[in-house]
Amino acid sequence: MPSLVGSEMCIRDSPVYREAGKLISSARKIFTTGAGTSYHSLLLGTYFMSNIANISLLPSFASDFQSLHAPLCTKDDILIAVSQSGETKDVKNACEAFRANNGGKIISILNNLNSTLAEKSDIILPIASDLEVSVPATKTFTNQCLLFLLLAQQCINKSIDIDRLKNAVEDTISLSHRITPSVLRSIKHRKEFYILGFGITYPVALEAALKIKEVSYLHCEGMHSGEFKHGPLSIVEDGYPVFIISAKEDKIYTLSHIHEVKTRLGKVITIAPEDEQLKASSDVFVPIPCEDRYLFPIVASVFFQILAYKLAVDLGIDPDYPRNISKTITVD
Ligand code: F6R
Repeated sequence: MPSLVGSEMCIRDSPVYREAGKLISSARKIFTTGAGTSYHSLLLGTYFMSNIANISLLPSFASDFQSLHAPLCTKDDILIAVSQSGETKDVKNACEAFRANNGGKIISILNNLNSTLAEKSDIILPIASDLEVSVPATKTFTNQCLLFLLLAQQCINKSIDIDRLKNAVEDTISLSHRITPSVLRSIKHRKEFYILGFGITYPVALEAALKIKEVSYLHCEGMHSGEFKHGPLSIVEDGYPVFIISAKEDKIYTLSHIHEVKTRLGKVITIAPEDEQLKASSDVFVPIPCEDRYLFPIVASVFFQILAYKLAVDLGIDPDYPRNISKTITVD
């Protein structure tokens, strides 16, 4: 189950954290790379850095870094590599390609500090999530996102009230009774559905879909809600389930995207801070007890971790050990 451990305690005001902030603020280009769930955390981190600190990150899948970015690297650029295990082959390859092309410093965001990636790094920012036993990454995702948020704040010398996040996560866990048997049934029977996010909640949609696919084997696609009308909308018919995640500030777009689905008789399940208009427009409304633009995506992702867990258990699948995959992917 999701939990918050000590990213904040480990890095706030520590010299390594300040050094990372300085490097990021003075780099020519900042590449960031990772795989799977770690990629989703760095994508959310990209929004945090741009929205909070006015700093652009260049994100890529670790498996794509070589094709997309490596030939353009210079010694004035930095790479932020994100990995729970520090042993993912794609991430190691990306770091090697960065070095081989005369890239500058590597900052790693890691859980396993005794890893190959730790050895390849100039600066290590530990996410301090303790051992994560289950194959799906949950608490490490939460802490990777939190670390990016703290890093963005560090770049502008600000701090956030982490207690608000802790309380909102706890409240969200206690809201899990909202995932009723009827919600589970409507998803299970369809065997496929979409999860849509807009802007800062787009990475959450991707991560939610990954977690649900991974532990329930149902087909679930995460995408940007602004892109849904450009083709995928044609799949919607009577009762087709579409989850829509919305931060408070994006309500105006969300209402329009809900309308697009409802007009085609789709079933809309909205995940957002409490809002009467969104509630009235949706078939099911899950109020996430967090209005903060930057904390909301992290808290909303916990809701989907719980949904994935419940779906797996309901389908008789062990969510800690889904078939076909291992905790650390050490092949190309
Ligand atoms: C999904 C999951 C994977 C990992 C990915 C990268 O729940 O755990 O997608 O996130 O294999 O692993 P790390 O972070 O160890 O590099």
